[in-house]
Amino acid sequence: MSLEPPPDQDIVVVGASGDLAQRKLLPALYNLSREKLLPTRGAVIGTAPVDWGDQQFRDHAHQAVATFSRTSVDDAAFATFAERLHFVPLSGDDITPLQQHFTQQRRIVYLAVPPSAFSPLISAIGTAGIADDTSIIIEKPFGRDLDSARQLNAELHSVVPEERVFRIDHYLGKETVQNLLVFRFGNSVFDRVWTRDAISRVEITVAETLGVDGRGRLYEEIGAIRDIVQNHLFQVLALTAMEPPISFEPEAIRNEKVKVLRAIRPIDPEHVVRGQYTAGTVGKESAVAYRSEPGVSPDSTTETFAALRLQVESWRWTGVPFLLRTGKRLKVRDSRVVIVFRDVPLHLFREVGVEAMESNRLVVRIQPDEGIALSFSAKQPGPDVTAQDVHMNFNYGSSFRGSPPEAYERLLHDALHGDHMLFIREDEVEAGWSAVDGILKEPPPVEFYAAGSWGPKDAARIAAPGHWHAAENEV
Ligand SMILES: NC(=O)c1ccc[n+]([C@@H]2O[C@H](COP(=O)([O-])OP(=O)(O)OC[C@H]3O[C@@H](n4cnc5c(N)ncnc54)[C@H](OP(=O)(O)O)[C@@H]3O)[C@@H](O)[C@H]2O)c1
Repeated sequence: MSLEPPPDQDIVVVGASGDLAQRKLLPALYNLSREKLLPTRGAVIGTAPVDWGDQQFRDHAHQAVATFSRTSVDDAAFATFAERLHFVPLSGDDITPLQQHFTQQRRIVYLAVPPSAFSPLISAIGTAGIADDTSIIIEKPFGRDLDSARQLNAELHSVVPEERVFRIDHYLGKETVQNLLVFRFGNSVFDRVWTRDAISRVEITVAETLGVDGRGRLYEEIGAIRDIVQNHLFQVLALTAMEPPISFEPEAIRNEKVKVLRAIRPIDPEHVVRGQYTAGTVGKESAVAYRSEPGVSPDSTTETFAALRLQVESWRWTGVPFLLRTGKRLKVRDSRVVIVFRDVPLHLFREVGVEAMESNRLVVRIQPDEGIALSFSAKQPGPDVTAQDVHMNFNYGSSFRGSPPEAYERLLHDALHGDHMLFIREDEVEAGWSAVDGILKEPPPVEFYAAGSWGPKDAARIAAPGHWHAAENEV
């Protein structure tokens, strides 16, 4: 990550009055400004279909930073940041009024708008005649299936080339996700065992305790497979399973990631469980059923949970199941990768019974409680030979001082520098959609699970013959 300011350019946030801008983008831009990592010259121009002026936008940004920033508001730093902030109310798809506010030759446009607004805004950039000096950051979900993703790619490329497109998956901005590369390719001790010879299965979980948070109408159109599996889970899968790249260059890394996604075999519908939460208790709070959420149809079949068993057919991975699962209103918030190693071949400890011992596991905790743990068997002290599962634990919080940058800070910083490493390439997004296209076209029926549980009972079938290694029984 360069600590130099990026080239001079304006930053245009379309959808600047929305939730993402408030919770993530404005605090991230403020923190970059504080650390002198915004362009030396350039405005931050917000736009949305609301009747705000510059001052209202600055007040909104102040409140957003005060509420959501990882750092508290520093008055002098905020005043410096606020000087850049301008607002242009826009309704409809004519963006030409923005041009009067450009201060630089170049600009980056962040489409922080509902997916239905992506296409009209992309063509508006073309019609306004500003495409030649424009880069575009586009939010997820990128399309809703393979055909629509291809269509959106074609629309983007009719306006700007791939070198100026930044498709966001904010999981790639997380330190713990980036660390998968350093962990795998910077440590010889794990390199030798990162293969089908030593690994029996790989589990990747993204579990949320939140429900749809008032966004039921939007979620009805999306569901867990489009919202999380096709992007976050597949990105973590790609980083976990990829071959060593030939260099640490963005294209070298993205070349290897896309190969993993292309190697996913067509998914057997028997290896997919879709779930939907009913009323229950999450922690100490009671939660209504998904079908009772505002904006949700009372007979909705949208999945709020998905578990899949995949095969990555490659020299390294053939025969190793990849178990992916995500859900809302689950028991705990927990994102992790669990590498389960093969058991020892011989019953050496007859007293203990090898079957009774847990398999060795490497657990990468993405969030919360970020860290990595290795579980193995140790002899319990005493005259008998009895084994116990123990853990070696690395914890980010205690090993590194200071709070790491938020994912959106890192991603905005890289996009301003034109660095694509942490963004999803055209062929990657299409390979991801291609892998789930079959189940999106013919989805298995949804099974119900109580809010506050670990999902439908049938999810255990996917994990057989083992069980899911969830936060409740792991470090
Ligand atoms: N919120 C998150 O944490 C999050 C996380 C990951 C991805 N995303 C993605 O980020 C995007 C924005 O999400 P959000 O949660 O911020 O949505 P949101 O709260 O609904 O805000 C959308 C923003 O876009 C504006 N807008 C709506 N239609 C527009 C149009 N046709 N032209 C220009 N502006 C328009 C809205 O203005 P009005 O309010 O006046 O309509 C608002 O400023 C979505 O694609 C979402 O999937 C969001």
